[in-house]
This record gives sequence, C-alpha cells and structure tokens, in this order.
Amino acid sequence: MRFDVITIFPEIFNAYLNESILKRAAERNIIEVKVHNLRDFTTDRHRTVDDYPYGGGAGMVMKPEPFFSAVEHIKSDGIPRRIVMLTPHGKTFNQDMALSMSRQNQNMILICGRYEAIDERVRSLVDEEISIGDYVLTGGELPALVIIDSIVRLIPGVLGDERSAEEESFACGILEYPHYTRPPDFRGLKVPEVLLSGNHRAISQWRRKEALRLTIARRPDLMSRCVSGLKDEDYKLVSEIKEEGKNHEYD
Ligand code: ADE
Repeated sequence: MRFDVITIFPEIFNAYLNESILKRAAERNIIEVKVHNLRDFTTDRHRTVDDYPYGGGAGMVMKPEPFFSAVEHIKSDGIPRRIVMLTPHGKTFNQDMALSMSRQNQNMILICGRYEAIDERVRSLVDEEISIGDYVLTGGELPALVIIDSIVRLIPGVLGDERSAEEESFACGILEYPHYTRPPDFRGLKVPEVLLSGNHRAISQWRRKEALRLTIARRPDLMSRCVSGLKDEDYKLVSEIKEEGKNHEYD
C-alpha cells in the first residue's frame, strides 16, 4: 500500500515513520510512504504557498496551483489513488473507516493544509475529506500520521501477533480488557488472581466481563453499536455486572 503525503513540513513525518511498526512495514515493502514538499511545486523564487484571502479577513489561504501540480505529478505514474484531504470539516475518522481502508488496500494521496485554510478549489481534486476529531489542529500533518498508522497496523502481517489488532478496543465496538504484567504485587496493587491461575477459560471469561464492565462505565454509546457482536454469554455477563453494581473502579 502506498501513501503520498503533500505537506509544507515534510520533516514532521520522518521521526514517526522511522520507528517501530511503521518502519518495519516499510522495510518489508508492505507499505511505502513518500512525503512531497508542497514548495517543490511552486514556480516563484520565494516558493510561495499562501496568499491573502479574497474578501479580506484574518490569516492566509493556501494557493491552489501547488496542490494541483503536486497531485498531477504524483498521479503521472498512472497508479490509481484515493485523494484525501485532512480538514476539521471532513467526515470524522474512526476504526471502521481504518479497517475498511486497510482492507481496500487502496493507495492514497494525503493533502495536509496549514494556515487559515486551503483555497476552496483544491476540494475539486479530492475524493474525500477527513477529520480526526472535533478539535482544530495547526495543520493536517498529525491527522495524516494518525490515518496512516491506524490503517497500516491493520494490514495482515504488520503486527507481530495477528490477534492483537482483532482483540483490541473498538474491534467489536467495545473497549479492551485491562492488561497486567509482572510483578504480581506492586506496592500493594495486585494482579487479579484469575490471571495467575492458568485457567484459560476463566481468564477469557474474566477478560470479556471486564471489557464489558469498562465499556458500560466509560463508553455506553459503544455498547449499543455492538449489539450484533454480543453473544448470549455477554448478556449474562452484563446482567452480572449490573447486579454487582461495581463500576466504581472505572468511573
Ligand atoms: N486540520 C486541522 N484540524 C484537523 C482535524 N481535527 N482533523 C483533520 N485535519 C485537521
């Protein structure tokens, strides 16, 4: 899967992409990320990417020409790509979108804006606008990294243990169970007995119940989304949790 990123801050990407799982995915040719400096697609001496807004007002607007040139340059190899613009106006990104993009395995161009805005005409280039949440960042670079990271880790073979991507939070719409490692007793904070028991059935039931307990306490909205993913056994656990009324540890 190939990602082409268009940005005026290409350096931002190197540190993140050159570590850990994303680095390994690139080394193993599962992904390729090419970061393009928007300024390389300007034609003036000052490599200008922004200008004053028509109609006045605060801030600068990113000019359309360099974006069009950058996209045309990237597409000149004839490989089809989905063009995504990162903007707070876009559709809010979530795990379902990451999963479907990962399965579609479609190459992407990610357009990152800065300053007050991007000239409206750049929108005519894009297939999709995506926001990573209801807050405003100084640019689209972090959102582009968020999207790349969440998609790539779902590509089969990228994570060491295939189960980790499936089991973790949001995979079936509920949060993940709590994790512990050694020591069994840290300053009086103990690992739940069941996890030390070696009884795999009991452990798996405990994990499911705690995942449900956590979700009911913190993200009840996810419970309703997951209805189709809940089994009879889950409903039993949910009524046990309600009877116990013991959510305070997650409240
Ligand atoms: N650019 C600025 N804020 C953003 C956000 N929340 N999501 C995507 N792109 C952005």
